[in-house]
Amino acid sequence: MPATSRRVLLCRRPEGEPRPTDFEIVEAPVPGPGEGEVLTRTIYLSLDPYMRGRMNPGRSYAPSVELGQVMVGSTVGEVVESRNPAFTAGDVVVGYNGWQTHAVSAGAMLRRLDPKQAPISTALGVLGMPGMTAYVGLLDIGRPKAGETMVVSAAAGAVGSAVGQIAKIKGCRVVGVAGPPEKCEHAVKDLGFDACVSHRSPDLRAALREACPAGIDVYFDNVGGAVLAAVLGLVNRGARIPLCGLISQYNATALPPGPNLGPVLWNRVLVQGFIVSDHLDRQGDFLRDCSAWVREGRLKYREDIVEGLDRAPEALIGLFRGRNLGKMLVRVSEDPTG
Ligand SMILES: NC(=O)c1ccc[n+]([C@@H]2O[C@H](COP(=O)([O-])OP(=O)(O)OC[C@H]3O[C@@H](n4cnc5c(N)ncnc54)[C@H](OP(=O)(O)O)[C@@H]3O)[C@@H](O)[C@H]2O)c1
Repeated sequence: MPATSRRVLLCRRPEGEPRPTDFEIVEAPVPGPGEGEVLTRTIYLSLDPYMRGRMNPGRSYAPSVELGQVMVGSTVGEVVESRNPAFTAGDVVVGYNGWQTHAVSAGAMLRRLDPKQAPISTALGVLGMPGMTAYVGLLDIGRPKAGETMVVSAAAGAVGSAVGQIAKIKGCRVVGVAGPPEKCEHAVKDLGFDACVSHRSPDLRAALREACPAGIDVYFDNVGGAVLAAVLGLVNRGARIPLCGLISQYNATALPPGPNLGPVLWNRVLVQGFIVSDHLDRQGDFLRDCSAWVREGRLKYREDIVEGLDRAPEALIGLFRGRNLGKMLVRVSEDPTG
């Protein structure tokens, strides 16, 4: 066990896009667990768009990170030492231990993983929070029916790639929206989408109209902004829009102009925002269905892994520039199961 641990602290609140200088990397002795506590070594750290909101001063649906505090984040780690009877050294656990190589916790937020069931990194992606977001947002709010057209944005990302494939399993025509051509090609060739258009198209609405000749019945929105505006011009009567994320404006310093909501009114469209943590009652169904679909090869996933905790800041910045293909992860230390 190394004598020191590393941590990434938030040291400055960003204006607009985060910068590497908003973070500070510090070393400290590896902490020891107290009575009832567990010491874990982080193997994988998940990087997610919500982290940008935690860097702001005001509370949104969750409290912000204080200056000088460790950045928050979900992790997969190995128990190094346990003084909690529920865990033993060597257990692999998923938890919320933040951007650090080692963490001591009471264990209440830790869930043991079985490395024989699935690669342990999937607990942060397709079989973790992003996968569950796709599952509940699409099935419970989007309510797709066979034969309908479902559009999803950030289509090659962690949430979007799962949404599109689950909609295919449910019998929909699936159209993705992504940035670069290689991501669109990945969505069609590797993930089985029927079509994928670029949000950089000079006329996005025309490109979507061509890809969705029967209009749009479900739009799973991960980005907001111009993509949402283009989709609204093509929604069918009774369409459903699970409003999952607004990544196009997470770095914005001013509110964007409002969308034209006319089509929402006259097409009786349901738009519903949701936060995945409100739907934990669906976790059992999600793990049962998505684990089976992953095993059967019907739900494929990609991981974009950067090496080393020190690269976490630049990797988070890259997420907002679309540099990732699939789930963005940091390998913080060796994966004993890999
Ligand atoms: N409601 C919830 O509970 C919940 C839970 C998890 C995630 N989310 C939301 O789901 C969305 C996707 O998250 P994720 O973890 O799966 O991330 P991701 O899709 O793996 O990565 C983010 C992607 O967003 C795209 N993007 C960035 N800026 C954009 C812009 N201005 N316009 C269009 N696309 C843009 C980029 O792809 P391109 O290169 O294709 O542009 C980038 O790769 C985020 O909005 C996130 O906040 C919500």
